[in-house]
Amino acid sequence: MRKVKSVEDLEKWAKDILAKQKRHEIMVSVCGGTGCQAYDCQKVKAALQKGLRQKGVGERATLKVTGCPGFCERGPLVTIHPQNIFYQKVKPEDVPEIISETIQKGRKVERLLFEDPGARRRISSADEIPFYRSQMRVLLSRNDLIDPTHIEDYVAIGGYRSLAKALFQMQPTEIVEEIKTSGLRGRGGAGYPTGKKWEECKKESGATKYVICNCDEGDPGAFMDRALMEGNPHSVLEGMLIGAYAIGANKGFIYVRHEYPLAHKNTEVAIQQARKARLLGEDVLSSGFDFDVEITKGGGAFVCGESSALIASIEGRVGEPRSKQIRTVKQGLWGKPTNLNNVETWANVPLIIDKGSKWFSSIGTEKSKGTKIFSLVGKVKNTGLVEVPMGITLKKIIFDIGGGQQDGRRIKAVQTGGPSGGCIPASLFDLPVDFDSLTQAGSMMGSGGMIVMDEGTCMVDVAKYFVHFLQEESCGKCLPCREGLKRMGEILDRITEGKGNEEDLSLLEELAEVVTDTSLCGLGKTAPNPVLAALRYFRPEFEAHIRQKKCPAGVCTPLIRYSISETDCTGCGACAKVCPTQAIQGEKKQSHLIVAEICSRCGSCIDVCKANAVMVQ
Ligand SMILES: Cc1cc2nc3c(=O)[nH]c(=O)nc-3n(C[C@H](O)[C@H](O)[C@H](O)COP(=O)(O)O)c2cc1C
Ligand code: FES
Repeated sequence: MRKVKSVEDLEKWAKDILAKQKRHEIMVSVCGGTGCQAYDCQKVKAALQKGLRQKGVGERATLKVTGCPGFCERGPLVTIHPQNIFYQKVKPEDVPEIISETIQKGRKVERLLFEDPGARRRISSADEIPFYRSQMRVLLSRNDLIDPTHIEDYVAIGGYRSLAKALFQMQPTEIVEEIKTSGLRGRGGAGYPTGKKWEECKKESGATKYVICNCDEGDPGAFMDRALMEGNPHSVLEGMLIGAYAIGANKGFIYVRHEYPLAHKNTEVAIQQARKARLLGEDVLSSGFDFDVEITKGGGAFVCGESSALIASIEGRVGEPRSKQIRTVKQGLWGKPTNLNNVETWANVPLIIDKGSKWFSSIGTEKSKGTKIFSLVGKVKNTGLVEVPMGITLKKIIFDIGGGQQDGRRIKAVQTGGPSGGCIPASLFDLPVDFDSLTQAGSMMGSGGMIVMDEGTCMVDVAKYFVHFLQEESCGKCLPCREGLKRMGEILDRITEGKGNEEDLSLLEELAEVVTDTSLCGLGKTAPNPVLAALRYFRPEFEAHIRQKKCPAGVCTPLIRYSISETDCTGCGACAKVCPTQAIQGEKKQSHLIVAEICSRCGSCIDVCKANAVMVQ
């Protein structure tokens, strides 16, 4: 490993790596992210390695295992550079053809290209695929280019150049000012101005200060921070180095969620390599600045993402929040001034220092600058990680990038902000996605979870899911959150079982107010949001459950009945075969019927009926 002792060393290193990389005409990149690993991308990588060697093209082509480029549902992904040919759902059996056709003859393997369902044509370049076309991939695009376990790849794309600039061309106060003028706001949920937080921490006296990176990411369905930490850990390290220098800290911690083994591994490798290169440790780049980082594995609880609980967890105590009358910038880790930022916040820092605050603030809206990564999941055609400029409308994300509804069911809402957010109805999809607009609409940006729901989703059931999630995740330290969420969950249980009454809705609202106003930490304070947003936009669904004892979406099992349409049933018998309670009767080629008393309403019959003859009422 090259030892980088000066800015000149860093520049020379980058030049040498680029010269070495240029010797290969072709680069084959295989996504090695967690999503693609679930699709066995390791086997594709092994087949490519073997194939390139056997065919004797190893000299011309280089193979790179990269981080996640976002389109995980289409994995394993393989991209051939410089033509930028994007292959999806690649299997090891496809590899010989990729090598003989694309690598050796420059021809595309049509069947592996993305098919645009609207235009019915195959698209070869990732940039032209609708999923990518409307995105602005400032952070994620770097995941496509580098192997996160090779520091050389990061250095080659200009990595650690911003650190050099910060250390040798800027004063700490100037760095803080640059981050302030960029308008960067924390990506972990609350959107607190990053520069302001740094300034507050910098102002504190004392020789010991800490910086922390929050990679706990507990929101159900969210995986933005995982992708950045797995795919480009050096960008986070570089952001922390710059922040620590500006604030006056010499020690950092990266709090990585326990369930993220690959993020943990790649970050550990990155730290080791940065230490060996002397970019971490004592006298970084001979500047006189010392800084080192340690990883702490998360405590496995959603509440551990909250700043004071996270700090308690790093200190080795139970991950429980404390009251915030003294802020962590004053007294954080072991009572010392501490600056905590989210993964995505830190990853933006080197870009701002490199390209300038003007560049950053030119993206986005007046009060929400830059891009934001969302994990777009649920009932849309294209799911995955999307990076968009702040201020883009929900409609553009859901329909242009997400491709709109998955099957015949109309999209009805989108849930943003994770368990602390709420569902926004389709009628408000022209809303710009920024911190303030989402909060005004009764939801929030949160860390970037975006779950699309269609007519088959019951909004009472969704509210119930989030309340139960938070009730289980509540640390139980304060009464309003511990007992209030339990009572709210019980009321929602009753409503979805058809046992609700007219007073339940006002009781829910009253409890929501008390829990919001009196809970100790952000978990309790925001926990009622999903219920309040559902009541605000989907009240008739609650009323249908209470008054007509019906679930309009056909989800709440005690309130629905399955039957078979006599006219549509072809008598194929597929439903009877899968019914676990033998509730379906009928002769072959004759219309079948469901015995309501035996039916468990599991929905297996709907899944197998090709004639769409099973009805839910
Ligand atoms: C219950 C709860 C869970 C949280 N989980 C996370 C998390 O997983 N990741 C995160 O960055 N912030 C999380 N936060 C927000 C953090 O407390 C904190 O505001 C954030 O990490 C600060 O970084 P930022 O200013 O860069 O957003 C959570 C907050 C609450 C109340
Ligand atoms: S993990 Fe491969 S595209 Fe996301």
